[in-house]
Amino acid sequence: MPNPPNSQPMPETTLNETAVSAPGAVAVPRERLAGARVLVVGDVMLDRYWFGDVNRISPEAPVPVVHVQKQEDRLGGAANVARNAVALGAQAGLLCVVGHDEPGERIVQLLDDSGVVPHLERDPALLTTIKLRVLSRQQQLLRVDFENTPTHEVLLASLARFDELLPAHDVILMSDYAKGGLTHVTKMIAKAHAAGKPVLVDPKGDDWERYRGATLITPNRAELREVVGQWKSEDDLIARVTKLRTELEFKALLLTRSEEGMTLFSDDGILHASAVAREVYDVSGAGDTVIATLAVMLGAGLSLVDAVALANRAAGIVVGKLGTATVDYDELFL
Ligand SMILES: Nc1ncnc2c1ncn2[C@@H]1O[C@H](COP(=O)(O)OP(=O)(O)OP(=O)(O)O)[C@@H](O)[C@H]1O
Ligand SMILES: [Mg+2]
Repeated sequence: MPNPPNSQPMPETTLNETAVSAPGAVAVPRERLAGARVLVVGDVMLDRYWFGDVNRISPEAPVPVVHVQKQEDRLGGAANVARNAVALGAQAGLLCVVGHDEPGERIVQLLDDSGVVPHLERDPALLTTIKLRVLSRQQQLLRVDFENTPTHEVLLASLARFDELLPAHDVILMSDYAKGGLTHVTKMIAKAHAAGKPVLVDPKGDDWERYRGATLITPNRAELREVVGQWKSEDDLIARVTKLRTELEFKALLLTRSEEGMTLFSDDGILHASAVAREVYDVSGAGDTVIATLAVMLGAGLSLVDAVALANRAAGIVVGKLGTATVDYDELFL
């Protein structure tokens, strides 16, 4: 969803003396992306849509009665991130926990069709996260969420599985939706670090200590504000981010700023990429596309600066799409 706009206007390109505008996106051969192996770890969910007609008000309570005529299911959360990596032509594994319930089975089925390699831990006690939307005439009437936290034992099994999967991947991507799947994220980051693999984190919540040592963290404006407070100017933002990066040992931070594009903070300085969307239809899931594109490009051996330029281009494409939340190789490069 779009974030509330900042009070500060965003300068077009230059932020301060060290700031540079993003260079043009480089072309990358298909074969190079095909060799990139991304491991996505995190919270998976099922996005379910019920479509129907409303012709009357319920006699039981003053609410509309929806006669459901169609159901649509989509992979959400970490699974959508993994799907984005595959759409670009890379290899993606997905490590996550699902329950032994109908939404869990549906996720397994959808993953089978997606090209993502599933590494699922099954938790019989878990309600698989599902977000059910009830719609009539393009209007959302209600959203119903089912979720709870995986058990301790299953999370430990998932940590052991992480150890096994680590050597076979080039980049690790943590997709946190605060459903408990990343309870052991700090340990996972340390292990990846020791193995010399970059770790990208899409954060959630106000405790970022748990992401200590990540290579790159990709908050949106609201997520960053929750942790460093509201910045008063671009200089103030730079100061707050620099302090945070030093304290938590993040090599880089990419702030995604919706219609203001994105800004990369690293030891090499600050780089701003303006939003490139021609038309904006559906901004939800743009953050998933951004971090998936970054992971694929880093896995293919590109520099962080080149990866950001391509992630910005991918975001500009995906927000122009209705429904589908992925960008494929041809759309990005041709
Ligand atoms: N309204 C918009 N106009 C142009 N570009 C946009 C817009 N919204 C998003 N984008 C592009 O998508 C990128 C990511 O969007 P945003 O900062 O909203 O991430 P997000 O809040 O994590 O998204 P979500 O959580 O919904 O997936 C932005 O950096 C920008 O490139
Ligand atoms: Mg996001």
